[in-house]
Amino acid sequence: MEKRGKFSGSLGFVFAAAGSAVGLGNIWRFPYLAAKYGGGLFLLFYILLVLSFGYTLMIAENAIGRKTGKSALCAFGELNKKWSFLGVIATIVPLIILPYYNVIGGWVIRYVAEFVTGGHSAAAEDGFFEQMLASPGHQIIFQLIFSLVTTFIIYRGVQGGVEKTSTFLMPILIVLAVIVAVYSVTLPGAVLGLKYMFVPDFRHFSVQSILAALGQMFYSLSLAMGIMVAYGSYLPKNSDLEKNVGRIEVFDTGIALLAALMIIPAVFAFSGGDETALSAGPGLMFVTLPKVFERMGASTLIGSAFFILVLLAALTSSISIMEAIVSSLCDKFGWNRKKAAVGIGILSFVLGLPPILGYSLWSGVTVGGMTILDIMDFMTNSVLMPILALLTCVFVSYVIGVNVIHDEVMLSSKFKRRRIFDVMIKYIAPLLIALILVSSVLNALGIIKL
Ligand code: ALA
Repeated sequence: MEKRGKFSGSLGFVFAAAGSAVGLGNIWRFPYLAAKYGGGLFLLFYILLVLSFGYTLMIAENAIGRKTGKSALCAFGELNKKWSFLGVIATIVPLIILPYYNVIGGWVIRYVAEFVTGGHSAAAEDGFFEQMLASPGHQIIFQLIFSLVTTFIIYRGVQGGVEKTSTFLMPILIVLAVIVAVYSVTLPGAVLGLKYMFVPDFRHFSVQSILAALGQMFYSLSLAMGIMVAYGSYLPKNSDLEKNVGRIEVFDTGIALLAALMIIPAVFAFSGGDETALSAGPGLMFVTLPKVFERMGASTLIGSAFFILVLLAALTSSISIMEAIVSSLCDKFGWNRKKAAVGIGILSFVLGLPPILGYSLWSGVTVGGMTILDIMDFMTNSVLMPILALLTCVFVSYVIGVNVIHDEVMLSSKFKRRRIFDVMIKYIAPLLIALILVSSVLNALGIIKL
């Protein structure tokens, strides 16, 4: 059997794990959710959840990976045979996410191509995004490019591929994010956007805003996708697990904040303070933002910088999603990494075709108004991931016992937040997850209206 990969040390791990966490979730999803759920209030919930709940699950997943030295498909079973099905769910989740992540990555490549070749005015026109969705041929080509790059990096291995790419791309990403954010917050009228983002307005309070923040936190921190178990398994025993998790949280939340700073003040400046410009939902980044850039008159430069940044972020996340699958298969079946990478690359490309066709030839295939891509997103984010997170809490608290995690973490850390960890994983997290799970399914079935 091939030798298992390892990160070179804490720095490599933090860059790779932060690269995984920082992705479309931060730049595409976070700003439109923050805009939708009242800015400052959403931010407050989000940060509280990251520090308590996100921290807990991230510690648990990394510790399980590092203790067993295995990726998700084997790790849970190694600790308790009867619970090996958790590893199966943790491998199915990235298998569903990867294809549609590649599709969105392909859209981003399309936007980068448009902006760097000076096509900013076309990208800002009404209907540009819809036209792109309606032409499957182009989408397939861009998705193929994105899948090929992801596969190539995974093919090169843990240190040579995942760690090297993330360590190289993350600093570029941060510099680009700071430049675009500074530009955005210094626009005339941007201050209203800053106020909207940072001053919690309790009139915006709703149960949905908490649920949305919870779902976003899973997605953004790459939790309940098998990723952190895999990355934990590559973490050297002497590397401070608790400190590293703290650094990943800071990175991920910092970039989400920067993304909101790039987008929300700019949209306020563009709309003259009219909040309704923020209501574009998922289209905020693809539809509204190009219009904002166009109005500013610095479209080629700022627009290119922005979409390149999104592309880099998407790439360091897609490699982690693919790594979770590939490493699980290699551990379980003793497969050769290169062959597994090519196989999963081809499979994810093929599985990416239905969500693409769901916007054109197969647009009739919908469930409750959701397109095929939406269904894949919903099945993972709102159903399988909460189930997996819930069962992971039960597994740690009541099957193997929290001491197993304590012992692993304390090999290299003081574990200062141990009490928070215990209370969260035993009581609060399972309860909150059960709530998000039941309410999101009832909402999707139209039984309650959130
Ligand atoms: N954590 C990754 C993201 O935010 C999946 O996109």
